[in-house]
Formats: sequence, C-alpha cells, structure tokens
Amino acid sequence: MSDAPVGVFDSGVGGLTVVRAINRLLPAESVLYFGDTARLPYGSKSPETVIRFSLENALFLTEKNVKMVVAACNTASSVSLPVLRETLGVPVLGVILPGAEMAASVTENGRVGVIGTHGTISSGAYQKALADLGVRAVSAQPAPLLVPMVEEGWLDHPITEAIILEYTGPLLREGIDTLVLGCTHYPLLKPLFRKVLGGGVHLVDSAEAAALKVREILDENGLRRDGTSGDNRFYVSDIPLKFQEIAQRFLGRAVPLVTQIQVGRYD
Ligand code: DGL
Repeated sequence: MSDAPVGVFDSGVGGLTVVRAINRLLPAESVLYFGDTARLPYGSKSPETVIRFSLENALFLTEKNVKMVVAACNTASSVSLPVLRETLGVPVLGVILPGAEMAASVTENGRVGVIGTHGTISSGAYQKALADLGVRAVSAQPAPLLVPMVEEGWLDHPITEAIILEYTGPLLREGIDTLVLGCTHYPLLKPLFRKVLGGGVHLVDSAEAAALKVREILDENGLRRDGTSGDNRFYVSDIPLKFQEIAQRFLGRAVPLVTQIQVGRYD
C-alpha cells in the first residue's frame, strides 16, 4: 500500500481523459497530473523531440515522488516508453498496449482500425502491438484534425462529423469491426463516432483500458491505496487559463487550482 500519487503526463489537456478513467475506477488514488501546454502539440513532432519532452515531464513527476508514471499521451507512449523504463525507478505505463489488448479481445473478425496523431501512426506502435497480439489485419489512419475540433468543443458538429466520415471511410472499406481511438482527445467524440459508424464497430477507448492496467500494476506491486477518496493536483507549463477552460470538458468537473511550472528547455 502506498499513499503516494499516481503520476500522469500528457502534452496538454487530453490526458485528463485518463485521469477521469483512473478517478472512476480507483477513487482512493490521488493523481498528480502534468500537461506540457507550453510545448504541445506532440503529434506533429519528431520522435527524438517527443522522447526528450516525455523524459523531462516524467522526471518532474518522479521528483514529486509519484508511485508510478502513466504516459497518457498516445504520441508520447508510442515512442518514449523504453527510455522512461530505463531511467525512472518506478513502474511506467503507456496507453498503446492497454488499447491494443482491449481491441484484440473484442474484435470478432480480426480486422482492427487505429486512428491517432501523425506521430502515433507513423511510429507503428499500435500496428506492432496488435500484430504481436495475433490481430491479422490492422488498418491505420492519422486523424489529426479531430484534436482541434475537440479543443474547440465541436463534439457534435457537422464539420466534425464530416471529418470522422472522411477518416474512417478507408478503414470501413477494409472491413474493420473494431476501431481504436488512439489519441487522448478522441474518447470525447465517442457519441459522434457511434452515430457515423453505427453499432457494428466496437470502439476502444485507450483511456479506459489504461485505467484498468493502472489497477493491475498497483496490485502487482502492492501499491494500491485503500481508504478514502484521493485528490488530484494539476501542473502545466504554460499559463493555466486555457487549460482550465478546456479541462472541465475532459475531466467532467472544474479544476480550480492549476500550478504553472517549467520543465526542461523551451527553445
Ligand atoms: N495527446 C496527444 C495524443 O494522444 C494529442 C495532442 C498532441 O498532439 O499533443 O497523441
């Protein structure tokens, strides 16, 4: 048992979908969240840059004595886990494997689609994880325009619907029966995906899959906290205002206290 918080980092606000899932599943746990709002987006950056940023973010969390680190950002998870695992002295979890495992367990026809940022898709991380799990056909599609749509709050907007239709068309033509929502922002669009894709495609929310894995890792390491409800603390690297405005949409409640800090270099 450990009272230390679970550390979660993301490029910005999107990782709050993972915090929300952890809070729901593990209400006794406290979460310490860092959103690298000064350096987002990660999805269009090179793997080298994303690895450097991820390591700096994770080191900030371990300096605060978190008991494990969750890379909530799919782009960060797709490239930085080996370096984080080598460097940090605490268990590290990314969102790729939990999402891939969930997709592999729900697909009936073995045809899985994955959407994510350019960085996530071009890393091949989901494709490899799914192939390793025996999924025979994986179709991957970058879907970067959905990130600003979600941040704008266009969760049920005809333009967002048209973008989903455009991105998922090629995947549907490949005959997928399961779609991995491989980006922190996409779970907020689940109702719209449902509307566009109908009931015949399973939607895999990597945030929910990651929360289940957090519980597993805490149990395996004897770190799960019992008792009363935990609290969340939030840190960002740019001024908190925009983060606070959008956070409610991702977390489902307001985040009145957000602290601005600096990690690494911003040049
Ligand atoms: N958090 C990122 C992800 O899940 C999306 C936003 C970004 O590109 O930074 O891949």
